Amino acid sequence: MKGRYYITTPIYYINDVPHIGHAYTTIAADVMARYKRLLGYEVFFLTGTDEHGQKAQKAAQAQNISPKELADKMVSRFIELWKVLNISNTGFIRTTEDRHKRVVQHLFKTIYEKGDIYLGEYEDWYCVFCESFYTELQLIDGRCPDCQRVPQRLREESYFFRLSSYTDRLTKFLEGNREFVLPEIRYNEVLSFVKGGLKDLSVSRTTLTWGIPVPFNEKHTIYVWFDALANYLTGIGFLEDDQLFRSFWPCDAHLIGKDILRFHAVYWPAFLISYGLPPPKRIFAHGWWTIEGQKMSKSLGNVIDPHEVVKEYGVDQFRFFLFREVPFGMDGDFSKKAIVHRINGDLANDLGNLLSRTVSMIERYQGGKLDSPGIKTGVDEFIENTILDLVESYMKEMELFSFFKALQYVFEMIGHLNRYIDSEAPWRLAKENRRRLSTVLYNLWNGIRIVGVLLYPFMPQKSNEIWRALGIRKEIEESQLESERFFFRIDDLAEIVRIAPLFPRLKEE
Ligand code: MSP
Repeated sequence: MKGRYYITTPIYYINDVPHIGHAYTTIAADVMARYKRLLGYEVFFLTGTDEHGQKAQKAAQAQNISPKELADKMVSRFIELWKVLNISNTGFIRTTEDRHKRVVQHLFKTIYEKGDIYLGEYEDWYCVFCESFYTELQLIDGRCPDCQRVPQRLREESYFFRLSSYTDRLTKFLEGNREFVLPEIRYNEVLSFVKGGLKDLSVSRTTLTWGIPVPFNEKHTIYVWFDALANYLTGIGFLEDDQLFRSFWPCDAHLIGKDILRFHAVYWPAFLISYGLPPPKRIFAHGWWTIEGQKMSKSLGNVIDPHEVVKEYGVDQFRFFLFREVPFGMDGDFSKKAIVHRINGDLANDLGNLLSRTVSMIERYQGGKLDSPGIKTGVDEFIENTILDLVESYMKEMELFSFFKALQYVFEMIGHLNRYIDSEAPWRLAKENRRRLSTVLYNLWNGIRIVGVLLYPFMPQKSNEIWRALGIRKEIEESQLESERFFFRIDDLAEIVRIAPLFPRLKEE
């Protein structure tokens, strides 16, 4: 084992059915989790649901059920979708679980006893939808700066977290950890927010009942974000399984959308430092998807149900599209035209043809049994070295969540391999030079085997189909990138036979 790796997704609100935005964060975490396993890490991959707060309470009211009933109903929608999308999470947390209540109350009480939480009074503009208070200055034309709804003036007794006393500590921490927040644009955003000076943060509500009570003053309910962030501790056994907890904390990566950056990159480290735990190692904030050029919203009726996309295009095609289309970290647009274009161009043409041409030639010229290679020439050395170099580049990018660049390297490989077929013309070699034919087919076979491994985090099922088509008898998840990244021969290969296209071509509109 190479070490341990702990990655999380945000926990999702249960007032809404899962859509493409939720799918995006979760698939991204799955890509990283699978990649780390390929490197030999023991991975803990946590996701879950955020079940407390006003939004859940309101949604439940509208359906005439209790918030807990709503949560029970909705949580299965998420779990079901994660199955369909082939998500390999190892943990699942619901904030209504007892184990979580214990953690949240313990954190709150300890921080209170240390003096970083105190009782005060709060008055400001409150947005019910965002469950956040805003200052006059933050409002835009009298409306919530995040959702543009009209906020209410609220005044209440509240516990506060002494965030103001963390301005210097967090500035120092951020300046010493330039890769704490990725991509860089988000890091800069956080740093300038912190440097601007932090204000104390209200961390309890008396107006909210659906949540976890302050243990020493039950009139108060703990602020949903304090409650929600603590899931990252509960999920790996904090206060319950010390050994598990200690082997995975601090978390290697919290994957989030750019909208919830401040909670994760400012409040969360401050809570942890105050309690006495090290902050997470990294936060990666991705961009948002628009749909056919428009903001996704219920009122526009353009919310994308991932089940529909999967039915129409396939799970792995969908997973692949999300990271091949847009640099991870930037905003992107989801359109039918774009996904069809990607499937036809990258998958059916470039990758699919490479595989089917190679497999057919091994069947036709070698009776389905891969021969040992002959002597290498300069062209063969070039293709081998190019692929080995591209693997290195791919690995560097994957470490930084640069999935887009990593995939670019894979498709560069695919391009090289396709051109190698064209330049070496195995059909001619089959008549003129059988030794050389063996070398060429051996190199193609190896190149595609490696492409399969590199695509595995993105397309786990299709990559395994690629391996099967190459006659390899084991699953990719039983292997390690470290040993698969070189050219070699496998003795125990199944017969290689022509296969139906892995990525059927779609009709373009
Ligand atoms: N419950 C909080 C998170 C608490 S974590 C301690 C929450 N939940 S959420 O369900 O509203 O959103 C979860 C994730 O979905 C966020 O990371 C958000 O960025 C992402 N997305 C929601 N809509 C999205 C798009 N249109 N595009 C991409 N991601 C989007 O926030």
